[in-house]
Amino acid sequence: MQRFEAYLKANLPTVETFHPHYNDSLSAMLLAGGKRFRPMLLLSVVEAYEPLLFEGALAPALALEFLHTYSLIHDDLPAMDNAPLRRGFETLHVTYNEATAILAGDALNTEAFYHIAKAPLRDDVKIKLVELLARDGGTYGMVLGQSIDLHFENEPLTLEKVKVLHINKTAKLIATSLLMGAVIVGLAKAKQEELYQFGIDLGLLFQIQDDIIDETQSEEEAGKTTGNDGDKNSFINLIGLDRSMEEAEMLAQNLEERFNHFDEVLQKALYDMMKHYLYRHRS
Ligand code: IPE
Ligand code: IPE
Ligand code: MG
Ligand code: MG
Ligand code: MG
Repeated sequence: MQRFEAYLKANLPTVETFHPHYNDSLSAMLLAGGKRFRPMLLLSVVEAYEPLLFEGALAPALALEFLHTYSLIHDDLPAMDNAPLRRGFETLHVTYNEATAILAGDALNTEAFYHIAKAPLRDDVKIKLVELLARDGGTYGMVLGQSIDLHFENEPLTLEKVKVLHINKTAKLIATSLLMGAVIVGLAKAKQEELYQFGIDLGLLFQIQDDIIDETQSEEEAGKTTGNDGDKNSFINLIGLDRSMEEAEMLAQNLEERFNHFDEVLQKALYDMMKHYLYRHRS
């Protein structure tokens, strides 16, 4: 974690320009904090199987955080969730203006792929990483999920469809974080697939917990605007708090069971994170 934070600080986008706040607007939300869940997943897989590749894996880990942070900046815009608080700070469109926030998101999106391209990794590995991040963080994943989220904001979906929404907007990027780590260390296809499917369910759990947070936590606790899901297709709005908690609990127990069958090295590398995230809905 500390190595990733140092790497992030050393690799913030910095451009020589006479623009008075261009660089600040690109870095602000990265410096504001965040749990760094996605880069930690990637780095844990690499640490488990090929610690010598850790250095080379920092760039794709950073790419995940850049792409995720772009998605948050755009998610908070007035045209989307209209949220004034993120990671304990004012959102960019509040501090500056909407154009600045849109452009900072655009910059972090492309910057993600720039870092993968320049990473000290084999070319065929980097092409695969670009493919996976573009697929799950874009058209076939996060962007699709956000589109469904916003299009059906005032129209209740079935529970099955809400799961599809959550899997796209959140779970695929989380699953691909594990998969990118697996690709870097060259895990066999069957293990890659197992990790990806685990990531999908972990990501679904993560978004259900996020819906619970919107309902139960204050802005101070969450560091972001809460009570903001309105008539959205959140788990809470669809099945209520109690059943959302039950659903989260069932998923978490199923994930724990699968986690216990992972290779020992991987269990060890992921243990603290799993302990924290599988049951965070309880606290
Ligand atoms: C928030 O993501 C948006 C979701 C996909 C649930 P995180 O909960 O990972 O936010 P940060 O990165 O810690 O700020
Ligand atoms: C957003 O989901 C997921 C993204 C792809 C950014 P939410 O809208 O629930 O995320 P928060 O609650 O604002 O962090
Ligand atoms: Mg949203
Ligand atoms: Mg939001
Ligand atoms: Mg939310």
